[in-house]
Amino acid sequence: MDQDHPQLLPDPYPAPKVLGENDCYAKLLLHDYAGISGELTAISQYIYHYLTLYCSHPEVARTARMIAINEMHHLELLGKTIQLLGTPPVICCANRQGVQFWDARFVYYGNDLYDQLTANMKQEMDALRNYRNHQRDIHDPFIRELLDRIILDEEHHLRLFSQYRDELCRKAY
Ligand SMILES: [Fe+2]
Ligand SMILES: [Fe+2]
Repeated sequence: MDQDHPQLLPDPYPAPKVLGENDCYAKLLLHDYAGISGELTAISQYIYHYLTLYCSHPEVARTARMIAINEMHHLELLGKTIQLLGTPPVICCANRQGVQFWDARFVYYGNDLYDQLTANMKQEMDALRNYRNHQRDIHDPFIRELLDRIILDEEHHLRLFSQYRDELCRKAY
């Protein structure tokens, strides 16, 4: 996947690796993969925002598209790690009732730039909270190293969306 974009962090990613199979760790990572604030939700939301902002705010739209591609890389790395943990990377996550499949209603579509950037900041903050919680619960050093690297990206995405909101929405709101 193409990571060659000046707005993305240049740091390399660790290759997916695990100490051994572990169902509990796979369940935690499925939330990051396909849960309500997971990678697939971020990809779909940012691509929708790219499509709807392209005419009015092309720079923000291109950044949203670039971040969506970066989230796709996270999805791939998590999916491979989930497989190594012994679980098929089905687009779902575990809940109290059993399995919850990913749902297009997880996406915040939004009506205007402020609304969409605010939703994207929330998406990044929720993802960061989940990754940090899962880091606390996962004691496999290979997975922790991968989550460390993904967290750097999510912090960076949050900064990018936040900067655009400060720059472009201050006058209007
Ligand atoms: Fe991500
Ligand atoms: Fe992100």
